[in-house]
Amino acid sequence: MLDAQTLHDSLDATFEELLERHLSASKEWFPHEHVPYGRGRDPISGEEWSEADADLAGATISDEVRSSLLVNLLTEDKLPYYFRTVEGLFGADRAWGEWVRRWTAEEGRHAMAIYGYLMVTRAIDPHHLERCRMAQVSKGETPAPESLQHGFVYLALQELATRIAHRSTGRMIGDPAGYDVMMRVAGDENLHQLFYRDLAAAAIEVDPDGMMVAIEDQVRNFAMPGTGIPGFLEHAKKIASAGIYDLTVHHEQILVPVVMRTWDVENVEGLTEVGEEAREKLMKRMAQSERVANRLARRREESLTPA
Ligand SMILES: [Fe+2]
Ligand SMILES: [Fe+2]
Repeated sequence: MLDAQTLHDSLDATFEELLERHLSASKEWFPHEHVPYGRGRDPISGEEWSEADADLAGATISDEVRSSLLVNLLTEDKLPYYFRTVEGLFGADRAWGEWVRRWTAEEGRHAMAIYGYLMVTRAIDPHHLERCRMAQVSKGETPAPESLQHGFVYLALQELATRIAHRSTGRMIGDPAGYDVMMRVAGDENLHQLFYRDLAAAAIEVDPDGMMVAIEDQVRNFAMPGTGIPGFLEHAKKIASAGIYDLTVHHEQILVPVVMRTWDVENVEGLTEVGEEAREKLMKRMAQSERVANRLARRREESLTPA
């Protein structure tokens, strides 16, 4: 595995190119233009939230979708810790630092847009949301990749996971304004995942062994960035049961397109023994993940098919 400084230096040019590409692909947008303020009303101090008070343009959302909205927003709220981690890995200098700051600025508007939407529509309980936010941000639990290579892999997988979670949630809200907010945020996440995915692909060329070890580690231990949210496991179960994000989605929409297709781990060249060993483990894990994904998909189909 290459040391961080060598890897950094050999990826400088790629990093600049990817930053340029990102800046020209991303379009300016304004969180406030996506919030339907007309549906808001003044708060009444101490008032208890009720589902019936939500104004979702005639739509109603399930408990599962509420869980997903809560988790998606709280995940965005942990931005200070992500910033700390990514700046710690990438440094504050040159294009690396510029990217970290730009990415942070973009991430910052995600919570603004989703929070604005949830508050004016009263789609979820604002007291509960705020208590959960205080609890999780005070705790500050975030994944801490152990090397730059691990960081590249984690960020690529996580940005894609977040994009999928926002998009699927948006589709299930049933309110065009909610759909629009979530799609707008997912659009940013998409550009982020392209950046990290291609950065990781370039790193594989430079450090095949180190990256293969990191990919194997991260695929084995991947956790959604929502860990640390109060009741996360319960929420994750509901989110999975609604089909928003589960092991089938994880396998088919993240691992296959990124790990197998773009990074093409099966055909990476230049591995020494340590890299080959990691690849072998990774391929076994992929096969296992495929079996689980298929089993789950079958079960879902059966449960949806009327007897
Ligand atoms: Fe985000
Ligand atoms: Fe992102």
